[in-house]
Amino acid sequence: MKFGVIGHPISHSLSPIMHAANFEALGREDEYGALDIPPEQFKQIKEIINEKALDGFNITIPHKESILPYLDEVSSNAKHIGAVNTVLIHDNKWIGYNTDGIGFVKGLIEHYGSIQERKILVLGAGGASKGIVSEMQKFTNHKITVANRTMSRFDNWQIDINTISLTDVQSILHTFDIIINTTPVGMNTQHSEFIIPVEKISKSSLVCDIIYIPDKTPLLKACEQAGIAIYNGLDMFVYQGAESFKIWTGQEAHIESMRNKVQEELKRRSLC
Ligand code: ATR
Repeated sequence: MKFGVIGHPISHSLSPIMHAANFEALGREDEYGALDIPPEQFKQIKEIINEKALDGFNITIPHKESILPYLDEVSSNAKHIGAVNTVLIHDNKWIGYNTDGIGFVKGLIEHYGSIQERKILVLGAGGASKGIVSEMQKFTNHKITVANRTMSRFDNWQIDINTISLTDVQSILHTFDIIINTTPVGMNTQHSEFIIPVEKISKSSLVCDIIYIPDKTPLLKACEQAGIAIYNGLDMFVYQGAESFKIWTGQEAHIESMRNKVQEELKRRSLC
């Protein structure tokens, strides 16, 4: 089968080597390539993909929302999030899914264990947050709290959550068992700003970031130094890919080989 990822820029995408590692581990002869489609070319997406005769593809920045009008069907989850990262092409029909949220949650539970009795705080209220929260609420008995800088962002949320501003959440930070940063704060390591004050986080909590480049954001580094457990976004990347593979083929992916390959490549790049 033939798969790929579309985005712009795309040359640094780790998806092709990660999926290739999975195909190899499973003894499959599939192909997975990267396609750079700049925004101005996006209206030709149907022709470009059809010419490549793909069976499915991933979509990354900046096209996760622009793909919506080109789909014949959209999963209810992707519709709710308003973004698609996986397309299955079946009988010439394009069906859109979003595996980012389930990717994060599967990875987290695998790493941490059950989250059923945990009190969870999510920072940020964009697409990534919505995907994670809507998936995560299936696995916890407590209502999830979401903190955001701009409260009007919650206007189009149809999930039963506690909402709070980033400023107000500071006084209750110590009450959470798991804190997940879904904002881009910390992605650019030139700014070592913190989205929340580390000294107010409980020492027994787990602090997560969906970013994996750098492997430790300033927030994760500071938490680690304070003796707080940390968890970055690498598993989320691996598991979202594994979930896409399952949608395309109906088969479980070989997680271990995918994770190992991504880790190996990140290490190689950091040495370059
Ligand atoms: P994504 O799809 O990756 O979630 P997004 O939809 O653009 O991206 O959402 C980005 C989120 O990060 C938002 O919650 C945004 O907060 P606002 O709604 O207030 O804009 C948050 N965010 C981005 N930069 C931030 C910053 N410097 N401080 C706090 N929150 C920030």
